[in-house]
Parts: sequence; C-alpha cells; structure tokens
Amino acid sequence: MLVQERKKMNNIIPHSYVITRKDRNLKNNHKSFLIWFTGLSGSGKSTIANALEKKLLEEKVSTYTLDGDNVRNGINNDLTFTPEDRKENIRRIAEISNLLVDAGIVTLAAFVSPYRNDRSNIKEILGEDSFIEVYVNTSLEACELRDVKGLYKKARKGEIKNMTGIDAPYEAPIDPDIEIKTEEMTIEESVIEIMNIIKKKLKNE
Ligand code: ADX
Repeated sequence: MLVQERKKMNNIIPHSYVITRKDRNLKNNHKSFLIWFTGLSGSGKSTIANALEKKLLEEKVSTYTLDGDNVRNGINNDLTFTPEDRKENIRRIAEISNLLVDAGIVTLAAFVSPYRNDRSNIKEILGEDSFIEVYVNTSLEACELRDVKGLYKKARKGEIKNMTGIDAPYEAPIDPDIEIKTEEMTIEESVIEIMNIIKKKLKNE
C-alpha cells in the first residue's frame, strides 16, 4: 500500500500550512532535497558526506547530515541489524529526511542501507525529484583491509552477526544517480563530481 493511501485509511488528514517548502527554498536561495549515500560499512560514506557538506556550507547552502552510527545511538537505539530492523531504520530516517527537506534543508544521509527495496521506499517517501542516490562503491576487500572500527575482524570471528558483506547481503544499486569508486578517486574529486550534478538541482526556478 502506498504511504498516501495508508494515511487516508488511518483518517489522518494533513493540515496545510501557509508557509510552504517553496517559500523556504526562496528564502534560502536554493532548493532542498535528500542526498543519500549507500555502501558497505567503512566504504567512505560519512567521509564523503562530511567533505560535501563543508563545500555546500562554503556555497551558503543550508545543510544537515544524518549518519548511521549517530542515529542508531539516538532515535533508532531500539533497532538491531536484522532485515526487519534495518527496514525500519531506513523508513524512519527517510521520514526524518522528508521533514528536513520540507524545512528547506539539503539533507545528507549516510547509511549502509543494503536492501534495494528499502532504498526504493525512500524514493517513494521523498518523491523522485527530491532524492539523489549516491553509491559509494568500495570493494569488500578494501573495507575489510581498512576495518576502521574493527567490525569485520569481529564478524569473521563470529562475534558479530548480520554484518553486511560477511553474513548479510549488500544489494548494490543498479542505476544510482552517482557512483563514487573510492579506490579510483580522491575525496576532493568525489565532492567535485557530486557538486557538478547537484548544482542545477539547487537552483530555484
Ligand atoms: S543499515 O544497514 O541499517 O543502513 P546503518 O547505516 O544504520 O545500517 O548502521 C551501520 C553502522 O553500524 C556501520 O557503519 C557500523 O559501524 C555499525 N554496525 C554494527 N553492526 C553492524 C552490522 N551487523 N552490519 C553493518 N553495520 C554494523
């Protein structure tokens, strides 16, 4: 069932406010949308999101970044890494992102988000025009070699279950808006590539 149909069934009738997203976009001098980074743990999602946010700030763009490790310490601290909980994790983040985008903020979200279905649900919640999917493509070998948090080592020893890439799947995007191959590009090059694509999107009509 579509999100809108479900809301109708529950007798929830959204209230219309005088100030709209368009008004906020005009005030900010730019449009708002969600930039979603997906990729394995340790692929570089947060690093690239951080560098991109810095660049956007220099361009006077209002931004906010949501990050797996932070959100899972707060609003989603009741969720594990089972497929069901990951689905709920992504759904809540998509709804939070939707509010931030409505508030006029260019939202960056860095989550493993390993399931294609969950990612297409984000697109449904935000609307196609407000969602940019960035696939941070780093091989499992490279992530495992970096192993910044030591999680892969633990997963190989069986101390962690449901580790993406080890005993849980990662369904790579088939047609992402942007693909960043971190083993072939620097962070600066990645930021330039993303900026080139979102520049037009930032402009108010
Ligand atoms: S998601 O799959 O639900 O999108 P999310 O991005 O929120 O994952 O959280 C991933 C982060 O949690 C990883 O960067 C890693 O630090 C940590 N983590 C802990 N356990 C796991 C696990 N089993 N699989 C993946 N990441 C894990």
